Amino acid sequence: MKINRVQLQSEIDSFALITEAEPPVVTRVLFSEADLRGRAFVKNLCREAGLVLHEDAIGNIFARWQGSQTNLPPVATGSHIDAIPNAGKYDGVVGVLGAIEAIRTLKKSGFQPKRSIELIIFTAEEPTRFGIGCLGSRLLGGILSPEKAAGLKDRDGKNLEFWRKRGGCKGKLDLVKLSKNFYSAFVELHIEQGPILEKEKISIGIVEKIAAPSSLRIQLTGVGGHAGATLMSGRRDAGLAGAEISLAVEHAAIKSGSADTVGTTGIFRIEPGAVNSVPCRAYLEIDLRDTKVATRDVVLKQIESAARTICKRRGVKLEMERVNVDPPAICDVALVKTISEICRAQNISCKKMISRAYHDSLFMAQICPTTMIFIPCRKGYSHRPDEFSSPRQIAAGTFVLAKTLEKLAGV
Ligand code: GLV
Ligand code: MN
Ligand code: MN
Repeated sequence: MKINRVQLQSEIDSFALITEAEPPVVTRVLFSEADLRGRAFVKNLCREAGLVLHEDAIGNIFARWQGSQTNLPPVATGSHIDAIPNAGKYDGVVGVLGAIEAIRTLKKSGFQPKRSIELIIFTAEEPTRFGIGCLGSRLLGGILSPEKAAGLKDRDGKNLEFWRKRGGCKGKLDLVKLSKNFYSAFVELHIEQGPILEKEKISIGIVEKIAAPSSLRIQLTGVGGHAGATLMSGRRDAGLAGAEISLAVEHAAIKSGSADTVGTTGIFRIEPGAVNSVPCRAYLEIDLRDTKVATRDVVLKQIESAARTICKRRGVKLEMERVNVDPPAICDVALVKTISEICRAQNISCKKMISRAYHDSLFMAQICPTTMIFIPCRKGYSHRPDEFSSPRQIAAGTFVLAKTLEKLAGV
């Protein structure tokens, strides 16, 4: 069984040109022109690989290789093709295009699956459009209700229904949820997005746990006015309240007592955005994660409390919303063991690890046994244009995925 790494790399390179930004920068926001072209590209590859396609009401794409025993729950793999602003070309894409190559390789080898093998291309793993990550897998797993999803709006006030239409999605959102154990297993191939594998010169990471993510949305309303004529005393500057809250996020994360706590104010906009005007409004989105949910929850409360104190002192109105507060995912022990054994049998170095990034696997783990196959990426860089994994590293991950699917679908 041999992965065609030249073809796979060439597909990854071509796919990176489908972007809203100037290459090599990749930006592919849900249902943007680039995302729609990306979806068409991937569907075409799936068709060429002989897979049968269908889409659900949120735009999750399913590409199936029918097994001989259709009464058995299928094995699933997949990832996402949307990309945050100023991203690179490997996050998510390796798990989609790699899975297609894994399936092509299995087909070429003459393998006949008993269980069907289903590739899932999840809608909006990235939170860019609606502020919430893993939209497709949250709905599949029943973690986000169709009613809540229908209420989502982007920063221009366009709702999910608008974007579903734009994306050509059909059907009712309540039909997206899958029953528990609809799949016998889910395995996602992904770049590590951290430095460990590269540093330790290990080819494959097998994920045992995914850290618990959460996020807050904060709107601040102060009093604006002329930057020259409004004296400093008594100002109610929404921008400064936001700045203090951002520092409180950093402080609370650092002081949590755990190096695993990470807090980021990744979105911070002020209005009216004129150099000679006191900011009357500020808008913040805060990302907070930890491998230990208890620590994350304590820090989350500290940040919320700090925001209230800061706004009270500054006379700024605070509207604060928890967008998501998710538990960590514990991966399936037997699946992790299966992949370790495959690596050992193939003489491929591997180690068990924690994913600090979140993935659709976080929510797939709630409906079926799940794990992830990580490959090294240069210096652990991700969510930036110089994200890089070599063709050899990608081929190794794809090979392990192919072997895993062969094993899981063969029984
Ligand atoms: C996924 O992109 C994450 O932010 O972890
Ligand atoms: Mn990402
Ligand atoms: Mn990703």
